[in-house]
Amino acid sequence: MTELDRIVQEIADEMAARSDRGTVAHYIPELAKVDPAGFGLVVIDADGHIAAAGDADTAFSIQSISKVFTLTLALGKIGDRLWQRVGREPSGSPFNSIVQLEFERGIPRNPFINAGAIAVTDVILSGHQPREALGEILRFMRFLTDDPSIAIDEAVAASEQRTGFRNAALANYMKSFGVLDNPVDYTLGVYFHHCAIAMSCRQLALAGRYLAHCGRNPVTGHSVVSPGRARRINAVMLTCGHYDGSGEFAYRVGLPGKSGVGGGVLAIAPGKASIAAWSPGLDASGNSHLGRVALEALSKRMGWSIF
Ligand code: DON
Repeated sequence: MTELDRIVQEIADEMAARSDRGTVAHYIPELAKVDPAGFGLVVIDADGHIAAAGDADTAFSIQSISKVFTLTLALGKIGDRLWQRVGREPSGSPFNSIVQLEFERGIPRNPFINAGAIAVTDVILSGHQPREALGEILRFMRFLTDDPSIAIDEAVAASEQRTGFRNAALANYMKSFGVLDNPVDYTLGVYFHHCAIAMSCRQLALAGRYLAHCGRNPVTGHSVVSPGRARRINAVMLTCGHYDGSGEFAYRVGLPGKSGVGGGVLAIAPGKASIAAWSPGLDASGNSHLGRVALEALSKRMGWSIF
């Protein structure tokens, strides 16, 4: 057992004992059914050593964490032209906010708020059928994890498709400014489905390795993006990855991170580790409460804050 294994286990034990677990997302009916008692933590270091504790292999809905991977794909498709359609400034607003869109002529503040992620999804969709775009996203996740079993939870996708009126409003509003190229229902369909990808902490930490190691998986040697692009994706994760809780996450954890309303968080310790935490209960900003607490403890004990 390494020092890292011991710390990861200790943190998982501490989290299991806590009663402050936040509240599971209710606005997507299927996510409201998730048991708030779950907790998982997986850390993969530069040598490929995997430290795992708690519910490390329980699949959950990755939701907004998928936006890191769709951003990577869209940058691969159209490069820096992406930044003409979506900004890269923190919004200081909730993930599903619409207010800035009117002032900023339909250009979302960043690729991680819902409006921005919908615009990014539209770029991936361009020229394809929705099922082809989803196939591309799924193939990317399977390639990153070397795990062909990764799939979409269709019940979660259908649940959000039935109730995602706010996302429909955001998409229609952007369409009115000419920011979306594809039919709104196509873009939304792909967006809801990629948010509904189910993965475990182990799979997510595997998928994040390229961001921790200059764009390249150090174990397989596969290059995913250039070092400069990995650095920039990490920068956007740090500043925007937790919406209006991004400042708090940077202050407490000091690492680039991306949350999802399924309770997952992907965090990157550059040069050191890819980390995934999961606890379904959320704080007021819609970010995993114990996920953040666990990552704060990990970053502190390992001395991994980038500051
Ligand atoms: O669009 C939505 O509302 C969800 N599919 C994703 C939101 C989300 O994960 C916000 N993150 N904490």
